Amino acid sequence: MSNRRGPDFETRMAEDEEIPPSPQFVEQATVTDDSVSDEFEENWPDCWARAAATLDWFDPYESVLPDDEPPFEWFAGGTLNACYNCVDRHVEAGAENRVAIKWESHLGETRTYTYQDLYREVNEFAAALRAQGVEADDVVTLYMPMIPELPIAMLACARIGAPHNVVFAGLSADALATRLESADSVFLVTCDGYYRRGSAIFLKSKADDARLKAAHDLEEMVVVEHLGETEHLGAGQHTYEELVAAHAGAEVAPVERAADDVLFLIHTSGTTGEPKRVEHVTGGYLAHVAWTSQTVLDLDPEDTYLCTANIGWISGHSYVVYGPLALGATAVMYEGTPNYPERDRIWDLIEENAVDVFYTAPTAIRSFMKWDTSLPASRDLSSLRLLGTVGEPIDPRAWHWYYEHIGNGNCPIVDTWWQTETGGMMITTLPGVEKMKPGSAGPPLPGVGARVVDGRGEEVPVNEAGYLVLTRPWPGMPLALRHGHRWGEEAAKLDVDGWHYFTGDGAKVDDDGYITVLGRVDDVINVSGHRLGTMEIESAIVGVEGVVEAAVVSVDDAEAGGIHAYVTLETGVSGDDDLRERIAAHVRERIGPIATPDAVVFTPDLPKTRSGKIMRRFLENITNGEEFGDTSALQNPEIVGELESIVRDG
Ligand code: PRX
Repeated sequence: MSNRRGPDFETRMAEDEEIPPSPQFVEQATVTDDSVSDEFEENWPDCWARAAATLDWFDPYESVLPDDEPPFEWFAGGTLNACYNCVDRHVEAGAENRVAIKWESHLGETRTYTYQDLYREVNEFAAALRAQGVEADDVVTLYMPMIPELPIAMLACARIGAPHNVVFAGLSADALATRLESADSVFLVTCDGYYRRGSAIFLKSKADDARLKAAHDLEEMVVVEHLGETEHLGAGQHTYEELVAAHAGAEVAPVERAADDVLFLIHTSGTTGEPKRVEHVTGGYLAHVAWTSQTVLDLDPEDTYLCTANIGWISGHSYVVYGPLALGATAVMYEGTPNYPERDRIWDLIEENAVDVFYTAPTAIRSFMKWDTSLPASRDLSSLRLLGTVGEPIDPRAWHWYYEHIGNGNCPIVDTWWQTETGGMMITTLPGVEKMKPGSAGPPLPGVGARVVDGRGEEVPVNEAGYLVLTRPWPGMPLALRHGHRWGEEAAKLDVDGWHYFTGDGAKVDDDGYITVLGRVDDVINVSGHRLGTMEIESAIVGVEGVVEAAVVSVDDAEAGGIHAYVTLETGVSGDDDLRERIAAHVRERIGPIATPDAVVFTPDLPKTRSGKIMRRFLENITNGEEFGDTSALQNPEIVGELESIVRDG
């Protein structure tokens, strides 16, 4: 397997420390009975009824999983509505005055929505969408920043059975156009703009560009007036405020959806040049995220919870919006970044809101460590009960810093492994039951099947690296996998018996069955917690005049930047700073700033196998100053040494 791994790899391989959860935590934890795993094992798949029981169903399902072959029809026969589960039922149960969403703007202005407020505005916007012609199964694209109107629009879509397709606001107009086309979506909700580190970013103009670039025209565009700077609205364009006002007091009955009707689409990076479309369904997905919010994040309805993920990605869908709201908890949401206006913004949010549960990413923890330990120390973080991380492996040093400086040594940390494709958490400790091992995510959740295998599909020995595969279907699985699709190129690489899904990650297992995830082994890279496809970035780079070939790799040292690009040029084209800037600008335009290379290295050739496949592994070794292995399989082995001197000598 490729050695796409962090600088802390050796430490993580050697780590064997064990930390039990504190007695104070265990005393109040949602799950404290360690027989839960055995119970799931003995009673699989019916055990997953426990997840479905976190929801209210209109028609009860007839079977948890009728067949152990595709199609996997989780909760077959059941009907429900995700918006009803996240909003109405809490109002009906008398929790109408509980805060559902507490939002803070980049300047510290706050807006509070109780479950009653959420009910009102979601209904009004659902009525407005209907009036714009949106019907059940029409896809509504949401290109919005972290403002309350984003979860409101998601819930309004769910209410009328229209799958939403959220596109991260930091992506470019081109990326939005591709995602509108991929989702076959003619409805768009966006906003005039938003603030990031004090500067305004105009989103509506990017949406207008995308409209011109998309292969089909948009029928309707709704614009939230967040900056108050909506200049010109063309035909079929309306402000959100005007639509909601026109439907003041409207009520829309939640549409009954079958368990496997699509709740939303989301695009992520895959191994091809195109974004990968993932569709999640109403029943299994919602059950999975509600159940894991309850058992892994330990959320109670009385809890205030902060997740730093952007709703534009899956973590925000599952654990800012659907999971916490399905349980009736209070979600804190903020606009902007953790270091604006000051680097103690997150600690301020936790103190001000007496946050109980905090979920973030290792990349953020590394920044917090770098910024200043005295910042969290000067705040009262004693409301915290549980901490979580997601998105990339966490090295033991960052783990300990988080445990001690944020959790004061008594909040368990759940290191949750999952993906856009899994919908919800899959590998993590249950915080009230299982000990933690810093650097290792933990065992598969009860009911989840995970194995680490070699290329022939054989289980690898304890503590040896192999490929991480999921061997049992799970409720939050996406539509394609339910229908037996193998997600082609990824699955084809392995020869595993029986149904399985190859995650694209490398991992190892210890004698306790704890899984340590080592990082991606396919053509996807993880850059500061952002998942990016190498092919997507490379196709953008070769779109620049004068460029012949490109290969991008991730840099282990975050200080040195996230992405380095190796580029070959047409004869006579000079590799200078002007071309470097044109390459960066083109990637920004095609994908967005997160994919921009931090360094561009011009080279006469790229290392290739005899069949012509670019071997990024060698480029990674060069970038990260690592030893490179045997180059004899290359058609041009001499280029590796040559490139090493180009990079070393700058
Ligand atoms: O490589 C794994 C890494 O993030 C990938 C999934 O990225 P994405 O679909 O964007 O979803 C991120 C949020 C769920 C995985 O294939 N990853 C995620 N969580 C962890 C992780 N790597 C190690 N440890 C984790 N806890």
